[in-house]
Amino acid sequence: MSARDVVARVYGDVIAGSEQCVSEAARGEALRLLLTRFSISPKHLGEPGPTDEELSVVALAALRTPDHDKLIPFRFVVARGEGLERLAELFVGYGRRHGKTGEALDTERLRALQAPVVIAVIGRIDDANHRVPRHEQWTTVGGAISNALTALHILGYAGKMLSGLRAADPVIGRAFCREGETLLGWISVGTAKAPAKPRGEIDPALILSEF
Ligand SMILES: Cc1cc2nc3c(=O)[nH]c(=O)nc-3n(C[C@H](O)[C@H](O)[C@H](O)COP(=O)(O)O)c2cc1C
Repeated sequence: MSARDVVARVYGDVIAGSEQCVSEAARGEALRLLLTRFSISPKHLGEPGPTDEELSVVALAALRTPDHDKLIPFRFVVARGEGLERLAELFVGYGRRHGKTGEALDTERLRALQAPVVIAVIGRIDDANHRVPRHEQWTTVGGAISNALTALHILGYAGKMLSGLRAADPVIGRAFCREGETLLGWISVGTAKAPAKPRGEIDPALILSEF
C-alpha cells in the first residue's frame, strides 16, 4: 500500500468517523506488524528512505501518542542529503573536541552518513506546567518515538533510535534545539540491508499482574 493510500485511509476514516469499522483481517495484520517491529542498526540501513509523504504519515503516527492536555512535547527534525552532511560536520567537530584525529574523524563523519534519513527527536518539556508533570511529558515523547518507529515498520522501512554521548553534547544540542528544548537523539531510517537480530520471546507475565 502506498503512503498516499495510507494517508487517504487514515484521513478518510477519521473524517467519516468510521475508525471502528475495521475488518478482522486488517486487525490481525495490524497486530502482526505491531508485534514484529524491530530495530536495525544504521550500518545495515540503505536506500531508499521514506519520502516526504511517508514522513508525514510517520509524524501523524507520532501525534497519535497519548498526550495529556495535548502539549505535543516533542518535535522531529529531518536530515537528508545536505542535512546529513551538516550532521557529519557536527560529529567531526565532536570528535575533534574529544581529541580524535585521522581515521577516527572519518569514522565520526561516516557515523552520520550511514542511513539515508536521520530524524532528530527533540523534547519540549514545560517545567512550569503543574497539571502535566515532567515525567508525563517525557512519557509522551517516548510514545511518539515508538509510534514513529512502528509506522516506519508498517511502511516497509527499518530504523533505530540512538542517543549516546553525541546527543548529550551541548554544541550538537544547540544545533538542533531552541531555548528550553532537549535533544534526545536520532532515529536512523532506511531500508534494511541485513536481517534483524532475533529479539526473543518475552513472557507477558513479566509485566502483567493483578491488583
Ligand atoms: C530514547 C532512546 C535512546 C536510545 N539510545 C540508544 C543508544 O544510544 N544505543 C543503543 O544501543 N540503543 C539505544 N536505544 C535502544 C534501541 O533503539 C533499541 O530499541 C534496542 O536496541 C532494542 O532493539 P529493538 O527495538 O529491536 O527491540 C535507545 C532507545 C530509546 C527509546
